[in-house]
Order: sequence, then structure tokens, then C-alpha cells
Amino acid sequence: MKIAPSILSVNINEYPSTIKRLERLNVKMLHLDVMDGKFVKNITYDYNEVEKIRKQTSMIIDTHLMIEHPEDYVMDYIKAGSDLITFHYEATTQPENVINLIKSTNALVGISIKPNTPKELLDHYLPLVDLVLVMSVEPGRGGQSFIESSLDKIKYYNEMRNKYNYHYVIEVDGGINIETIKLIKEAGADVAVVGSYLMNSNDVENTYRKLHSI
Ligand code: DX5
Ligand code: ZN
Repeated sequence: MKIAPSILSVNINEYPSTIKRLERLNVKMLHLDVMDGKFVKNITYDYNEVEKIRKQTSMIIDTHLMIEHPEDYVMDYIKAGSDLITFHYEATTQPENVINLIKSTNALVGISIKPNTPKELLDHYLPLVDLVLVMSVEPGRGGQSFIESSLDKIKYYNEMRNKYNYHYVIEVDGGINIETIKLIKEAGADVAVVGSYLMNSNDVENTYRKLHSI
């Protein structure tokens, strides 16, 4: 299984040492959680921090925008060096414009859906995106429990991909541990975002290897 560690639970002062540690483990993709205090209650950081992180690593920067009106900001996050930008379907009235904006650059585009949003609402966008991010917890904070009904969503997007030959990858975010990662893999997920289970583990190296070997 491909793992994209989320460093949300790490203190921002420890980002440089954490990034080095993940690179030593040969991690390929780093998941950055941007929260604006509007789309979700918490606030994390903006594109300035993404730019700082970009300068420290060659890992793929997977920026998860939990922000309102992403159309106004995606270019800032691309200029900051994101390789992949994922925005929320619920955060904008113009998802197709956001997709086109991101596609007009070299960045890849992902679309994300919250646990209570009907999965079919993404149908129209599936042929247009590089990634579908299924939220398996309510976005906004780490350390929550995996919502089982996410498995149906993963299966659905996997079936749609097979049926229509779409090219997106399926990423799953929230409540992933050594048990839930098996379930999402079986359902058809390609990438697991792992936050607290990995970063708060006593042995990050060993936990990463175990998750990766699934
Ligand atoms: C939640 C974030 C996640 C978060 C996951 O809104 O999108 O990326 O870091 O944390 P865990 O793995 O602890 O659920
Ligand atoms: Zn995330």
C-alpha cells in the first residue's frame, strides 16, 4: 500500500526533523493539511508554510485544502510548490473551474468528499481528476475513528474507474491504522493518508514498514 504520512499531529517546530526522518524511510508522498477556520473549525497554515516545506524536500507534496472558495487560492498553493492539490467538492460552487485552474498548470488535481456527502455527486468530475480523496472521518482534526461507510464509497469509485476506464487514484484519509488499512485496500484504495497512528507511534520506522507492507 502507498502511504502518504500526514504531519498534522506534529508540532510545526519539528517539521524539518520529521521530514528528514520520513525521507530516510523512503517515503514518496507527504500529505499537508491546510485548514482555514471556515470550511473546518481549525486553522493550520497557508501557502507560506507549504513553500517552506517545499524547500526542504523532494517528496511529492500532496496538499489537502480544507478551505472555502478554493478557486481564490489554488494558484498560491501551486506557486508554493504543491505537486498535487486536492480541494473539497463541498467548499465551492464551481468545482469544474477549480479543476481547470489546477489543470492549466503542471500540478495534479484531486477532489475530496466528506463522509455525509452522497458519493454520486462526484460522478461528473470523475473523468477530469487525477485523484479522488475519500474522507473517512469528518475533516478538521486528526485522531478520530474510521467511519465504516467510507468503504462503500471506495468500492463505488473503484467500480466506476473499472467501468469507464478512468485514470484517477483513490486516496483515503482519516482513522487509518493497521486494521483499517487492510479494509480500504480490499475495497480498492491505492493511497492511505496516515496521521496520528504513524506520527504518534513509539516506533515510527517500524509502524511505517508494517503499513507499507500491507
Ligand atoms: C483530517 C486530516 C487528516 C488527518 C488524519 O481532517 O485531513 O489528514 O491528519 O489524521 P488521522 O490519521 O489521525 O485520522
Ligand atoms: Zn488530510
